[in-house]
Amino acid sequence: MNLFNVYPLFNIHPVKAEGSFLWDEKGEKYLDFYGGHAVISIGHNHPYYQGKLKEQLEKISFYSNSVQNELQTELADKLGKLSGYEDYNLFLCNSGAEANENALKLASFHNGKSKVLYFSGSFHGRTSAAVSVTDNPKIVAPVNYSERFIKSDWNDIEQLEQIFKTQGNDISSVIIEGIQGVGGIMIPTQEFLSKIKTLCEEYNAVLIMDEVQSGYGRSGYFFAHQEFEIQPDIITTAKGMGNGFPIGGVLIHPKFEASNGLLGTTFGGNHLACAAAIAVLDVMKEEKLMENAQHMGDYIEQKIKDFPHIKSIRRKGLMIGIELDRDCSEVRKELLYDHHIFTGNSNDKSVLRILPALNIGTQETDLFIDALQTVLNAI
Ligand SMILES: Cc1ncc(COP(=O)(O)O)c(C=O)c1O
Repeated sequence: MNLFNVYPLFNIHPVKAEGSFLWDEKGEKYLDFYGGHAVISIGHNHPYYQGKLKEQLEKISFYSNSVQNELQTELADKLGKLSGYEDYNLFLCNSGAEANENALKLASFHNGKSKVLYFSGSFHGRTSAAVSVTDNPKIVAPVNYSERFIKSDWNDIEQLEQIFKTQGNDISSVIIEGIQGVGGIMIPTQEFLSKIKTLCEEYNAVLIMDEVQSGYGRSGYFFAHQEFEIQPDIITTAKGMGNGFPIGGVLIHPKFEASNGLLGTTFGGNHLACAAAIAVLDVMKEEKLMENAQHMGDYIEQKIKDFPHIKSIRRKGLMIGIELDRDCSEVRKELLYDHHIFTGNSNDKSVLRILPALNIGTQETDLFIDALQTVLNAI
């Protein structure tokens, strides 16, 4: 059987990883400044994380959600404390798309309405409702398309007000990323977020904050929206939550009532996944990774801001978009093949997306900075 060929692949075969480095089968070393799409939060194979997973494997790795699982309770407790959302309830699933799918469904169950407002540049995943609120017609199949999903322009308050004026009574939820990642590191304004919140309250719509990419300390806050004065009704998370072990979560305001069978999953919240997610939170707290993300993000920006061909830097903590005066794909290729550094791109072709592990130090960071300077100087 062959693989279904949907991914453009680099010709690189990583076989080992540690901290911010990967090694291929020939022993060549690579610096990871992208974390496999923002997934690696505490560094590859962190010894504490490895230990927790090994320990759990020796005990029990899976049983379904038909039995008590104290690891889920421990995870919810630690997540509530570290994120500051102690009074919210947690539903565990397996991925970012699944978290958003459940959030959209829960909102609709809650207020009985069916329309969803989303924003230009958004990416919320590839499952049915999640892809319908993703601004990329290439990945929305006819089966997913519906007029119930309404797009409004990013940071455009007037358009938002206009849509609510005409359709507000039918809008079940508004879904927005804490910071748009795939869209090219787009940061919402306080004014925009406050208007969304006010309109949601006025029209009994649910505010869903997608923190799948921007959450888990990446922005220097636990969730990117916490820089602003705004409280979402539902927050979704995944990526950095398991540092590579698939797990997603939906943080739900206490006003939402749970009932048997309302949501569900076979694998979500299994023992191994919880062990991984608990290890991530323990390391984040112990190693003060939110502070490090803030500090190292500032360091990178200061060092690169005057490099040639950089038009702007859009950034919070270690969620960094470097806008070049050209398509970034050649720069990205040179960083990878000539300097052995992984970086990312975005739907905005000129934006190089940098998402290193939250525990990077100056040594690894200087490797990236020097390589970027060499590549940009040579243009
Ligand atoms: C903001 C955001 N939401 C949702 C998703 C979907 O997550 P997953 O690929 O785990 O389904 C992504 C993935 O890139 C994302 O960036």
